[in-house]
Parts: sequence; structure tokens; C-alpha cells
Amino acid sequence: MFFDRLSRLLNDAFRPKPKYITVTPVSSAGPAQMLPPSKLPRHVAIIMDGNGRWAQSRGMPRSAGHAAGTEALRDIIRASDDWGIEALSLYAFSTENWSRSKEEVGALMGLLLKYFNSEIDELDAKHVKITILGDVDGMPEPQREALRNAMVRTKDNAGLKLNIAVNYGGRAELVRAAKALAAQVKDGALEPEAIDEAAFEGQLYTAGLPDVDLLIRTSGELRTSNFLPWQLVYAEMVFDDCFWPDFDRTRYLKCLRAYAERDRRFGGRNEPAEAAPAKPTQPSETET
Ligand code: IPE
Ligand code: IPE
Ligand code: MG
Repeated sequence: MFFDRLSRLLNDAFRPKPKYITVTPVSSAGPAQMLPPSKLPRHVAIIMDGNGRWAQSRGMPRSAGHAAGTEALRDIIRASDDWGIEALSLYAFSTENWSRSKEEVGALMGLLLKYFNSEIDELDAKHVKITILGDVDGMPEPQREALRNAMVRTKDNAGLKLNIAVNYGGRAELVRAAKALAAQVKDGALEPEAIDEAAFEGQLYTAGLPDVDLLIRTSGELRTSNFLPWQLVYAEMVFDDCFWPDFDRTRYLKCLRAYAERDRRFGGRNEPAEAAPAKPTQPSETET
């Protein structure tokens, strides 16, 4: 057990970081797209949207779109791992998605179980650390078990931090954090004055992770749909018109390249070096 953990730690410490991330171009005409890892976001969040429309545009049932969507999911997780992304948060099922038809919710629950059962060995072998964002207790029993097992099994892994939002609602996450802090105040363990942004952040599902740097949403919708309201406040957003099952690592790299070109200011200003305020000059000897 000890040696197993030690060897994992050593492996993760020497996890090869690619010098440049490259994707073989779809058309042989263009050069390979390249991006230096220093320009990569630390935390990417993705709203995987458009499965239903992908299926409907092919005259297929919506469930077929969700099944096709799990293929894209595999590719994007592998790419994130290959490229050395630190954290990836994927929106798989929202608290609002329960309002869909019984058939669709059933299909999604079935796929979720199938996905975890088939992928967990490979993800664990790659040292991926899985965290579920959302109310796992509110899931049906078999899914709850699979989600909990995945978290427990991978909790000491030091590779890609993979967060899967299931039964997740952003407002519900904020209310949950407020309740946890209120309970600590009631118990006398916390002074109300001690509640600051760090204390609040510590009660979120994503406690300890960096804020989201890049949010990607597929399917052409331009909204966040109750996803990570706290963590997204300064995220760069990139929207891709394709439906989620058509999203692949080439499109993903395009989003990363768009991110790399953004000027992130966080309310301040990024002065070009030459325009930086000049140092006060020393008074000259004649100026006395
Ligand atoms: C995203 O695809 C998957 C989930 C919400 C679970 P949708 O099912 O929302 O597909 P569209 O947006 O209706 O096309
Ligand atoms: C957001 O997509 C949820 C997931 C991708 C899991 P929705 O399809 O549910 O969002 P809306 O209804 O278009 O806002
Ligand atoms: Mg949708």
C-alpha cells in the first residue's frame, strides 16, 4: 500500500509535460497548430451542450445524442491529460435536468453508470483524480455508489483533477456553502466577522481548486445555465457552435488558442512594458 502510493507520487512528479501541445491538422494543408504550455489555462470548465439537437438533426432519439456525447467526453478528457491541463470541470447533469422526460433522464442515468464502470480503470491508471460536483446523495442508488467509488478510489491521485458536475446547481452550491458557514457560527466555531471570500470558497465543491480560467460551451447557446457561478467570475468564455458530440481535440485546441490570445486584466490594467510609469528621475545637480 505504502509502496503503491510512493510509486504513484513519483510517477506523478515526473509526469511528462509536453513542450508544445500539437494536434494533427484535420486537413493536411495547414501547419500543425501549436501552443506553448505556459499559455494554457489552469482550470477549464465545459458545458457539454447540444446532444439532443445533434440526434434530432439526424432523425435519431435524443438518447442516441447522449451516447454519442460520451465519445467526445472521452476524447476531451484524454486530451486534457495529454496536454497537462491541471483541472477540468464538466457539466454532465444539472439539477434542472430532472425536469426532462422520464425516458431521457433514464437514458442519461444509464449512460452515467456505464461511463463510470467502463472508464474508471483507465482514469485511475492515468492518476486522474475524480471529484463529483453536486448532490451525490440525491442520485439513484447505483449511480450514487459508482460516483462515490470513483471519488474514493482516485482521491490520492495527483494527475488531472477531473470534476464532473452531476445533479449540480450553482445556486444550490452557494446555498449549501452558506448553510455550512451558518452551522459553524451557530456552534461557536466561527465568528461572523471571520467569514470572508476564502472561508466561503472553502465550502464549495471545488474548494482548493484555482478559479475557472476558461469556460467553453458548445451548441451555440450563450449562457452559463447555473454552472459554477462563484468560480466563473473572471473566466474567459469561448463558445463553439458545434453540438457536443462533434466537439473533438482539434476544436478544443482552437478554444485554448482563443484563450491564449485574451488580455486578462482582472479589473486592473496590463501596461505594456514601455508604457509603464517611468521611475521618478533623480533631481539633477542643477535643480537644487
Ligand atoms: C446536453 O445536451 C446534455 C445534457 C443537458 C444532459 P442537451 O440534452 O441539452 O442537448 P440540446 O441542448 O437539447 O440539444
Ligand atoms: C446545461 O445544458 C446542462 C448541461 C450541459 C448538463 P442545458 O441544455 O440543460 O441548459 P439550457 O436549458 O439550454 O439553459
Ligand atoms: Mg441543452
